[in-house]
Amino acid sequence: MRNLIDFGDMSREEWEQLYARASQIIDAPEKFIDVCRGKVSCNLFYEPSTRTNFSFQTAMLRLGGSVFGFADPNSSSVAKGETLKDTIKMVSNYADVVVMRTPWEGSAKAASLYSAVPVINAGDGGHMHPTQTMADLTTITRLRGKVDGLCIGLKNGRTVHSLIKAMAKFNDIKFFLISPRELAVPEYMRVFMREHNMWYTEVTGLEPVIPQLDVLYMTRIQKERFVDPLEYERNKGIYILTRRKLERAKPDMLVMHPLPRVDEITLDVDDDPRAVYFQQARFGMFARMALLEHLALQPRNDHPAPVEIGTKPICHNPRCITQTETYLPPL
Ligand code: CP
Repeated sequence: MRNLIDFGDMSREEWEQLYARASQIIDAPEKFIDVCRGKVSCNLFYEPSTRTNFSFQTAMLRLGGSVFGFADPNSSSVAKGETLKDTIKMVSNYADVVVMRTPWEGSAKAASLYSAVPVINAGDGGHMHPTQTMADLTTITRLRGKVDGLCIGLKNGRTVHSLIKAMAKFNDIKFFLISPRELAVPEYMRVFMREHNMWYTEVTGLEPVIPQLDVLYMTRIQKERFVDPLEYERNKGIYILTRRKLERAKPDMLVMHPLPRVDEITLDVDDDPRAVYFQQARFGMFARMALLEHLALQPRNDHPAPVEIGTKPICHNPRCITQTETYLPPL
């Protein structure tokens, strides 16, 4: 693995090696304070982030490396109209690894075509967020001992698609997909799960399924995706996790959330030992340390293969990077 664009690009064996390393770091972080000494990470955050940005920064600092970059593209030549290609060619002159979060889908893949150093996708729009998946799997494995064989409730389909895809690498997982009908998983995700012999069922209520779950993966209620705002107001209470609803859950069920939360988990849940979402964010930092160690130590490639020059956007997705960076090749 030279870049991390999509968790799906990683084999289960590669993931297990990274997890084993993350676990060693969790157990004895002091042994890793010099493994990236002299290495430099460039963190390009074109849109807001708390966890991903700060955890990548602290991950590199804890490995003895350094970090530069921006959290506001208006402070760089992006504001003058510099292309993604030129920005990446520049920063990869200076860095040993590039970490990027953007609203444009496919942007990390595009950046990897021009970069002399590994590129890590820290979230490209609604497309992929592979290091969130690493944080999630690290949390489940550390706290439940395994991922295989678990019964997982995933609230709201869309934002958990990459987690479902990652789970295809594991065995005997049962999914309860919990969402109002308006936000149900798209058909291509059902096809994916069937093709990978994944057991799933779709339900519209959280409370009836809670007693069966080993993991409840909460997400923000996507108010903006409801066609009728009144329908949102009618539905939202069903999907809010409260201390009372938790009473029916298994004593060792994990409550996870990628965060930020809005109001989908009430504050009185935070002190329940099953609420592990803040710990999940900390595990994310250790997983990112393992990834940075793996990628930042790779040799540079100052002569990446020539890339075909595109002439117009070819993707119908309005959020695709090819809509604005029209020189990109059809990928
Ligand atoms: N979970 C997550 O990606 O959080 P941020 O948007 O704060 O990075």
